[in-house]
Amino acid sequence: MNLIFMGPPGAGKGTQAKLFAKTYGIPQISTGDILRQAVKEGTPLGKKAQIYLEKGELVPDEIMIGIIKDRLQEVDCQKGWLMDGFPRTIWQAVALDEILRQRGLHLDAVINIYLQEEELIRRVSGRRVCRNCGETFHVIFNPPLQEGVCDKCGGPLYQREDDKEETVRKRLEVYRARTKPLIEYYWEKSALISIDGGARTIEDVFKSIRDAIFSKIKKEG
Ligand code: AP5
Repeated sequence: MNLIFMGPPGAGKGTQAKLFAKTYGIPQISTGDILRQAVKEGTPLGKKAQIYLEKGELVPDEIMIGIIKDRLQEVDCQKGWLMDGFPRTIWQAVALDEILRQRGLHLDAVINIYLQEEELIRRVSGRRVCRNCGETFHVIFNPPLQEGVCDKCGGPLYQREDDKEETVRKRLEVYRARTKPLIEYYWEKSALISIDGGARTIEDVFKSIRDAIFSKIKKEG
């Protein structure tokens, strides 16, 4: 299965992608996580990416396409993959089409999770992430058992630097201008599945995504 999960910041892409990848044993390729890890390690990529992340802007296409090309060559991607946060521009989508064509791969579905803007802000501002393992929580909607401590590994939880309200608004602006056009791009390719990610539990959204993907795959044989 080769899948893309897309949607605005805070829509629940990461939460759902993690669940889906774990349930079906395929790797989750989160470009946001890859970049944050590079920043944490202070690598040359991390130093370059940090400037864009802090401002809520997109990291240049050529850097992101290079990351995806390398990642898809890793052995765990042979059984399929789930991209979370890539592609994010038309140019990235065109480059991905070309990579897939060269490797004889097919995209099974693109899941677009949509949500009201006020809800996105609520979700992002309450998000807390584990500094050790990257597990995501929400102070109200998905709280950890013990405040400030990760349920999974016991690591400390923190608020992402780019989750401050001003940066979130900038990320939403960037989403509308550069990523939203991908909805039409994948709709025209008959790959798009839109899922309502609002006012429903994580489990309910997961069931809708799972059912929609398997029904599409079954229909297309
Ligand atoms: P990235 O990390 O991809 O950020 P994003 O797209 O802005 O998405 P988020 O991680 O904010 O949200 P999400 O949809 O994953 O929501 P989540 O599941 O956490 O990218 C960060 C930056 O990296 C970008 O700004 C850019 O600079 C750069 N970048 C990355 N990829 C790039 C690319 N391809 N090209 C260029 N630059 C790139 O959920 C949010 C909260 O809601 C959580 O607290 C969660 O617990 C909670 N929640 C989830 N589902 C529910 C539910 N059903 N009910 C209640 N709460 C819920």
